[in-house]
Amino acid sequence: MEVARWSGDFLRGKGVEDGRLNAEYLLAHVLGIGRLQLYLDFDRPLAETELAVYRPLLRRRAAREPLQYLLGSAPFRDLELAVDPRVAIPRPETEYLLEVLARVAGHDRVFESALDVGTGSGAIAIALAAEGLARSVTATDISADALEVARSNARACGRPAIDFRRGSLLDPVGGLTFDLVLSNPPYLSEAEWRGAEPEVREWEPRAAMVAGQGGLALIAALVAGVEAVLRPDGWFGLEVGSAQGETVAGFISDTGRFRSVRLHDDLTGRQRYVFARRLTHDQH
Ligand SMILES: C[S@@+](CC[C@H](N)C(=O)[O-])C[C@H]1O[C@@H](n2cnc3c(N)ncnc32)[C@H](O)[C@@H]1O
Repeated sequence: MEVARWSGDFLRGKGVEDGRLNAEYLLAHVLGIGRLQLYLDFDRPLAETELAVYRPLLRRRAAREPLQYLLGSAPFRDLELAVDPRVAIPRPETEYLLEVLARVAGHDRVFESALDVGTGSGAIAIALAAEGLARSVTATDISADALEVARSNARACGRPAIDFRRGSLLDPVGGLTFDLVLSNPPYLSEAEWRGAEPEVREWEPRAAMVAGQGGLALIAALVAGVEAVLRPDGWFGLEVGSAQGETVAGFISDTGRFRSVRLHDDLTGRQRYVFARRLTHDQH
């Protein structure tokens, strides 16, 4: 506990939010125990060999390398996904995208076929398959590196059937149709990215975060193309930046191809999700 305390102060001094919590995660990782176990073994002395592993990790965290890259994994829903600097770190907001999906589409709804655009670590795609929300799952990403991580995560989670395809947005799935398309695309503007914490700016892949000067370039392109891969009545759901909801809902409404276009709040009350439903042919 003594080590956790001073390392927590050290990290906080380097600008790390939740310094103490970060120190505890790193310590538990080095000791091969759960974080709460530290509190049960609070007076256990650390061996020099343990400190020799811990110190460099602490130094890297102080230099603002993300905790999840140091631990090598991040939780997502019921999954533990391997992450490294080839992929964006899955976030709690994206876990909540699936919560919103259940709310809008119905809690017992099982989709025949779902698509995750910009899958990164595979988080959304693997959760859809693992939670039985979709019978078949396809996922795309422009980054070959990310797809390598995603495929390996899918295998490790017992979901090797997910069809991962490389290419931009919907290009790799031309000709296929889905009854659910979800995406957490890059949506930061250049300025937002420049102002982001070092963990994001210096470590996460830039192409996973930034979408053109204003942040909306990829969302606009996705909205323009998504109707072609959605079955009539199919659902489309996006995670967006907290100031982008109205604009994105406008993009979707303006296509004239969707109904039930709605914004949804995250747990902190920010409008972070847009869901819509494709019209059937006779509704056109
Ligand atoms: C914000 S990350 C989301 C990763 C993952 N879905 C998640 O929620 O944790 C965005 C992902 O989109 C991918 N991406 C960026 N541009 C793309 C494009 N034009 N087409 C497909 N994927 C793209 C990035 O490589 C990155 O993996």
